[in-house]
Order: sequence, then structure tokens, then C-alpha cells
Amino acid sequence: MNLVFLGPPGAGKGTQALGVSEKYSIPHISTGDILRSEIKRGTKLGLEAKSYMDAGGLVPDEVVIGIVASRLQEADCQKGFLFDGFPRTIRQAEALAEKTTIEMAVNIDVPDEAIVNRLSGRRVCKACGATYHVDTFKGDVCSSCGGELIRRADDEPETILNRLHVYHEQTQPLIDFYGGRGVLVNVDGTKDIDTVFAEICRKLEEAFGA
Ligand code: AP5
Repeated sequence: MNLVFLGPPGAGKGTQALGVSEKYSIPHISTGDILRSEIKRGTKLGLEAKSYMDAGGLVPDEVVIGIVASRLQEADCQKGFLFDGFPRTIRQAEALAEKTTIEMAVNIDVPDEAIVNRLSGRRVCKACGATYHVDTFKGDVCSSCGGELIRRADDEPETILNRLHVYHEQTQPLIDFYGGRGVLVNVDGTKDIDTVFAEICRKLEEAFGA
């Protein structure tokens, strides 16, 4: 199962990817998580990426394509994978197509109005990366590992608006890119988390008999 998840920032790609990765035993590869881990470790790559990410812009294509190319060679990707947050530009999608075949692109559709609330209320565990929302989780610490919950640096209102602008300009065209290849599946991301998950699983079962 070679999958990519598309959708605006805050559509629920990461939330859904966790469950799909676990259910179908394929690695969840989030370029955002990889870049944040590089920043945390203070690497050269992390330092370069940070300024773009903090401003809500995209990290240059060649940097991200390089990360993905080496990740795809790892043993756990040989039976499939789920990309979350990659590709994000036509250039990235073309580079991915040169390396592997994408069998399904799941587009999680959520209107801009809902995104600002979702991202400004998101909290993530500093230790394990688990994601919560202040409307549905009232605790102060991560329920999985007890880690501190923080707001992501790019979840400030002004940065969210820039991320949405960048999404519409550079990433949304991928809906037509994958639609033209006959592998696009649209899912209504405004429903609750369990309903969206069930819908994605239904589409996967239709396509893969999984
Ligand atoms: P990245 O980490 O990929 O961020 P993003 O795509 O902006 O997506 P998010 O992680 O913000 O949202 P999500 O869709 O995963 O939603 P989530 O599940 O968390 O990228 C960050 C930055 O890294 C980029 O801006 C860029 O600079 C750089 N970068 C990364 N990849 C790159 C690439 N390929 N090229 C260049 N640069 C790259 O959910 C959000 C909130 O909503 C949570 O609080 C959650 O609990 C809640 N929620 C989820 N689903 C639902 C639901 N159904 N109903 C109600 N609430 C929900």
C-alpha cells in the first residue's frame, strides 16, 4: 500500500495517519515530524529548515526530496508506506513519481474556516509528539507518556494564515495531479475523528481489499 495523505494544515492528516499506519502495518512518514526532529537535535538541516517552518513557508524542495529519497530506501518501506505532508509541491510529486508508484492519494478536505480553530487549539506532547485539542482534551500533560503539552511554533494565528495561503498556492494543485492519475480519493475531514477514520478505511478496503 503506497499512500499519500493530502489536505490543508490541520486537516487531520497526522491524526488519521497514526491509526492507518497501525491498522495496516505500514510506516507513517511525516516530513514535518522529521524536520522538527532535526530542529530539536540542532542539526545543520534543522537550522536551515527552522526559519521556513516558523514563518509558515515551505522548506526548499531539494532538501525535502533528499530526506524522502533516503527514507524510502529503508527496509520498512519495502511493503508500503504512508506519506503525511509530502509531497507538497508539483516538483516534489514528480520527484516521488520517479522513485515509486503512488497507489492512492487520500485528500482530507476541510474548509479554511475550521482550520484556524483546529490549529490554534492544537497541543502536542513535547516528548512523544501525541496530538490533542483543547476542546476535547482537558489534561495538562500527555495521556500516553506524561510529557509536557505545548503549542507548535507554527500554530500562532498569523502563521496559520500564511500556511493556508501557501497550501492553496503550492499544495492544492496536487489534488488535480493525483486526480489525473486516477488515484485520488476525497474524504470529508469535517466529520469527527472516528468517522473520518472509518471512511478512510472503507476506501482502502475498496481499493486494496485490505
Ligand atoms: P507539517 O507538520 O506537515 O504540518 P501541516 O501539513 O501544516 O499539517 P499539520 O501537522 O499542521 O496538520 P495535520 O493535517 O497533520 O492535522 P492534525 O492531525 O495535527 O509541516 C510543518 C511545516 O514543515 C510546514 O509548514 C513546512 O514548513 C515544513 N514541511 C513539512 N513537509 C514539507 C514538505 N514536504 N515540503 C516543504 N516543507 C515541508 O490535526 C490538527 C488538530 O485538529 C489537532 O488538534 C487534532 O486533534 C484536531 N483534529 C484532527 N482531526 C479532527 C477532526 N476530524 N475533527 C476535529 N478535530 C480534529
